[in-house]
Amino acid sequence: MDQSHRIVFNLLEAMQCLPRPAFDDACRRLATELAADLTEENRLMRDINYVPAVVHQAAHNSLLAEIDRAQCLLAIGDETGSREIIRSLPEWVEAHINTMDLALAIAVTRTK
Ligand SMILES: [Fe+2]
Ligand SMILES: [Fe+2]
Repeated sequence: MDQSHRIVFNLLEAMQCLPRPAFDDACRRLATELAADLTEENRLMRDINYVPAVVHQAAHNSLLAEIDRAQCLLAIGDETGSREIIRSLPEWVEAHINTMDLALAIAVTRTK
């Protein structure tokens, strides 16, 4: 989990100052990386019958929806709107890691 989080953070940081079309490519890569990361976390939650899974997965879905929205805005030419979303994500992801992901990591450790 830690390694995939680092990849996402590095990508978010690097893409802030990328010009287009490299920014568009980075959005696609971000969507792919995050989908893989979140699928893995969702699998972990299923494996341990994690009770707060519904809430945690809903948070993942809203994150993926935001990235989808950023890509849609790019597609209609609203680069500013798209960049605003991407700029807001490191804070969101950090809060998620420090709360929901931390709780999950503790629960996984307890089942071992
Ligand atoms: Fe995570
Ligand atoms: Fe998570």
